[in-house]
Amino acid sequence: MNVIEFKNVSKRFVLHRDRRDSIQERVAGLLRPRAQGEEFWALRDVSFSVAPGESIGLVGHNGAGKSTALKLMTRILTPNEGTVHMAGRVAALLELGSGFHPDLSGRENVFLYGSLMGFSRRDMQERMDSIVEFADIGNFLDTEIKHYSSGMYTRLAFAVATAVDPDILITDEVLAVGDEAFQRKCMERIFRFRRMGKTIVFVSHALEIVRTLCDQAVWLDHGMARMVGPAGEVVDAYLADVNRQEQERLTRQRARSAGESPTAEQEQENDATPYRRGSREVEITRVELLDTAGNERSVFQTHEAVTVRMHYLAHEPVPYPVFGIALHHENDLWLTGPNTSFAGMDIPLVTGTGYVDYHIPALPLLTGRYLLSVAVYDETMLHPYDHHDRLYRIVVQSRGLRERYGIMSLAGTWNWCAQNGHAEA
Ligand SMILES: Nc1ncnc2c1ncn2[C@@H]1O[C@H](COP(=O)(O)OP(=O)(O)OP(=O)(O)O)[C@@H](O)[C@H]1O
Ligand SMILES: [Mg+2]
Repeated sequence: MNVIEFKNVSKRFVLHRDRRDSIQERVAGLLRPRAQGEEFWALRDVSFSVAPGESIGLVGHNGAGKSTALKLMTRILTPNEGTVHMAGRVAALLELGSGFHPDLSGRENVFLYGSLMGFSRRDMQERMDSIVEFADIGNFLDTEIKHYSSGMYTRLAFAVATAVDPDILITDEVLAVGDEAFQRKCMERIFRFRRMGKTIVFVSHALEIVRTLCDQAVWLDHGMARMVGPAGEVVDAYLADVNRQEQERLTRQRARSAGESPTAEQEQENDATPYRRGSREVEITRVELLDTAGNERSVFQTHEAVTVRMHYLAHEPVPYPVFGIALHHENDLWLTGPNTSFAGMDIPLVTGTGYVDYHIPALPLLTGRYLLSVAVYDETMLHPYDHHDRLYRIVVQSRGLRERYGIMSLAGTWNWCAQNGHAEA
């Protein structure tokens, strides 16, 4: 017997007037403008099931239908076709604006929520202390909800939803609001629920958490279930698709930037305006990122070998040039800047064409986007012949790797040594 069952579920919206529930939905709407009165399917023929003790993640681009699926689970919406079956008590933490009554105080909302879940006032009174402690919103408990900040709202909503002992806990982007400390507290509680064998339905753009927390995942794409399966595989497939689109965008961008100066669009893409400078006695004519098979790629896995190949053209004989690269994180943190001089490699003279390779045996970066610069300088490393500042992008994925904090992976090993072991009862 499944805890959750979606059988050929379709949900249609008719847009009589522009009614969007959240900022996210408004954004999604902007991306795909629709005419008034138009019908459209937010979900189309979606089927999946969740067995007891399993957790499921829903992933997909903005407007893919994730929140709609959750609203069907909580019966805020009903399907136009197909059936939704839920077994057990369902508590949901949906987007802001659904769930609480704006004119009631936080405390009154706790009682109201409890009564909807079948708990008496006394039941909720007993839980009040732990709810208040978890939400940590101080005196605001007796203030009307409409005066809450989005963070406070989420704090209270999460505290209440998890206090009513649900069998199924549904969360929609809890991590999007609230500060770090609160997010961590929420995640701890979510993981504790999972250990208790409860079912968690988790919607998030934080894919690494979906991978760790969920057994299964559904990838929604324009309302259709593009893939249903083990969470890791679905996340990988979704990421691969996102990256493929990214690659295509990069290829188009590269084609445009084949000229001398960066395009206006490139300038806009990065606040710290990437650009090319130098006197060009020797130029870097082409940059390739090669995998071990010698294929050119822009998406690499953590710990994979990468070779940065810089093809050059010397317009005149240039003695002792220094070739180098730099890597920046997309948020502009400068990660590294190796060059041939630091490595003690002398290139006495370049004439005509050739290439210089920088070989990275195991890429120590975690999932993310990184900017690559390449350059050739004179012997003093003060004068640039040709410097391509952050003009190339590397996308890194950490497929199959559980490590996910920070931006790098040292590939270290752990060792445990127990001394004077007294086994605790
Ligand atoms: N009540 C509604 N009336 C009309 N259209 C709606 C309604 N609710 C959602 N939609 C539309 O249905 C589509 C799916 O929306 P949904 O909120 O489920 O997406 P989502 O996957 O949660 O996206 P996000 O990642 O941005 O939260 C969107 O195009 C949205 O604009
Ligand atoms: Mg949503």
